Amino acid sequence: MRILGIETSCDETGVAVYDGEHGLLAHALHSQVELHAQYGGVVPELASRDHVRKALPLIRHVLDEASTDGTKLDGVAYTAGPGLMGALLVGAAVARSLAYAWGCPAVGVHHMEGHLLAPMLETERPQFPFLALLVSGGHTQLVHVGAMGDYRLLGESLDDAAGEAFDKTAKLLGLGYPGGPALAALALRGTPGRYKFPRPMTDRPGLDMSFSGLKTHAMVTLKNSPNDEQARADIALAFEVAVAQTMVIKCRRALEQSGLSRLVVAGGVGANQRLRGALEALGESLGVLVHYPRFEFCTDNGAMIAYVGHERLKAGVAQTFSFATRARWPLDSLSP
Ligand code: KG4
Ligand code: ZN
Repeated sequence: MRILGIETSCDETGVAVYDGEHGLLAHALHSQVELHAQYGGVVPELASRDHVRKALPLIRHVLDEASTDGTKLDGVAYTAGPGLMGALLVGAAVARSLAYAWGCPAVGVHHMEGHLLAPMLETERPQFPFLALLVSGGHTQLVHVGAMGDYRLLGESLDDAAGEAFDKTAKLLGLGYPGGPALAALALRGTPGRYKFPRPMTDRPGLDMSFSGLKTHAMVTLKNSPNDEQARADIALAFEVAVAQTMVIKCRRALEQSGLSRLVVAGGVGANQRLRGALEALGESLGVLVHYPRFEFCTDNGAMIAYVGHERLKAGVAQTFSFATRARWPLDSLSP
């Protein structure tokens, strides 16, 4: 089965072709970072318009790269949510129109299920069941993954998602959008131990998290520090270490409570090297195998959507011509 995947939930147009027999045949990404940078964040209407401009040329390019065409496809998958409504509608309309023209089924995919299963694109795939730490711009969740579609939420951030906290703290520190990678780069020049940030919600039982307090802590520390580059780097480092260590504590707890022996880390913040290093060390100490998607598939991409579309169509998902896109969509409402 050969599937075209289209991702347009936010500020990246991602397209890929996944083949059940040969794996990922081609993928490409157009990032809108430059378009939104001058506004300090994503402007939804500009995002939608750019997806309109980029989707078809990118699809043509990826089909060429994969040496295939619409007549050889068995389906078109697109992100149906969660995400920006206008941006989602562009992907859904393009995908549904192409599928109709090519006479193949179209399937709407849950964006976070895409992130969750992105490590399946690698040669060393995680075996079910596993614990997933989903860390993106909009979500921070610990999920018990029993099988494809069998997702049980164990804990989540009660306020800002980790990526959101990275972005907001980066803004405080005078860094541009997107903030996560910029803050991580600044933290590399930080002095270890100069500031110690709290590890929120780790002194009580449970797997929920909270990151907005760390952002406030960064703001207060910044106000009481000398106004220089070194102080900003030291704050960036203390913030990053606090986020990573908080997640390590929560993951350790979730692994011990669930008895799971595999951990999957996915979503944009999963690209953070310090977090990866800390979770790697946790895995070694517990004898738990830690899986990540390759770096470029941590953040939004078409490959993860094509893969989930492939699995859903293979499992015989029901076909219909009506469709809905959803700005909000709980992951644990999906079915196997
Ligand atoms: O998964 P993703 O591309 O989009 C969503 O589904 O939200 O995640 C984007 C988020 C942003 O908040 C971005 O700042 C963060 O991931 N991010 C990082 C890094 N790379 C991306 N945060 C920390 N360190 C990074 N290296
Ligand atoms: Zn995402």
